[in-house]
Amino acid sequence: MSAVLKEDPRSIAELIADQKAGYSLQQRFYTDPDIFELELERVIYRNWIFAGHESQLPAPGDFRVLNVAGESAIIVRGKDGELKGFANVCRHRGSLVCLEEKGHVDKFACPYHGWMYDIDGKLFAARDMPEDFDMAAHSLKTVSVGLVHGLIFVCFTDDPLSLDGCREDLAEAMAMFDFPNLKVAAQKTYDIPANWKLSIENYQECYHCATAHPEYARMHTLMLDNDKQDRVQKHMLEKMVACGLKQIYVDRIDTAARPGEMGYGYSRTALFGKYKTGSKDGSPVAPLLGNLKDYDGGASDFNFGPFSFMLAYSDHVVAYVFTPTGHESSKCEIYWMVRGDAKEGRDYDVDKLTWLWDITTISDKEIIVNNSKGVHSKYYQPGPFSGMEKEENIYIDWILQELQRP
Ligand code: FES
Ligand SMILES: [Fe+2]
Repeated sequence: MSAVLKEDPRSIAELIADQKAGYSLQQRFYTDPDIFELELERVIYRNWIFAGHESQLPAPGDFRVLNVAGESAIIVRGKDGELKGFANVCRHRGSLVCLEEKGHVDKFACPYHGWMYDIDGKLFAARDMPEDFDMAAHSLKTVSVGLVHGLIFVCFTDDPLSLDGCREDLAEAMAMFDFPNLKVAAQKTYDIPANWKLSIENYQECYHCATAHPEYARMHTLMLDNDKQDRVQKHMLEKMVACGLKQIYVDRIDTAARPGEMGYGYSRTALFGKYKTGSKDGSPVAPLLGNLKDYDGGASDFNFGPFSFMLAYSDHVVAYVFTPTGHESSKCEIYWMVRGDAKEGRDYDVDKLTWLWDITTISDKEIIVNNSKGVHSKYYQPGPFSGMEKEENIYIDWILQELQRP
């Protein structure tokens, strides 16, 4: 904890009231464990988090574990073929039940004293318990699981925000890339020793792209000023229809979502000249998605709630999920998805597919960690946002609004 924090007697409400509009957050938002506690309840456990593609759990008993900020969920395909979510916490004395990250089981056996749960979370064996022990009252507790056109989302509350608006409003955009029939070709986790907001704030702005990401900056046009972007955008829009794509714009980010709904958004931006997709030389790295007929030279941004973002090129989709692991540590999980019938070796090469976002995330991690070190200094003072950090500004305003919820 920093020296500055010890001397700061302000309550969280006073701190929020003192936050200067258009400036980065005050130090305590990144360092104060009490603020993190409040975020857990008001932001982190209240919102949906992407947990993979349905195709990763095809058969009853297939499972994965998702760990977020001290909570652990088991997502499993149940006996009835539906996906279910359970708290990975034994109903005996609370041990983690499942220690594997993913796999296939016919039951979950607690490693501590051996209580056994079936794949629907029901306790069916517990040694040496009293005659009147009520097995049925000791099923695993549930965690919410929702599906959006093949994508799995998890929420650590029984009363989650509705996904209906997202499903409906993004249906057309997601159909262009045939999201239900994608498959995960590669998956990687990057541990980032920095507060989760620094990790997501960095994803929200491309002011740093020109300096930190020469590879990305060569192909993506997001860091161009509006006039230049309009010109390249025009080039893409002219090709789009012939390629089987449609111009769609959905903007219901968190601040603009309907009450009780998860926020979401969609837009497509042009890539530079020769780039057909996000690859080293701009050439295709996988078969075209869905019914696309050709490359329009664009890439689509999707956002699903406050933690999950996706970039859909014409031949692959990259999903990024940023979650806290503690109050000063976070992780970024990346999924590279291709069309479901693509075969590794024949249709795609994992190194080529993952090249761009692997090097970009490695350099992001470095700048986020440097940012975190400076933010912990007694000399840190919130600084003004540039015009290219508008989204980040909206994002932190939304967090402050959530923290003030009654
Ligand atoms: S804590 Fe799981 S069986 Fe005892
Ligand atoms: Fe970046």
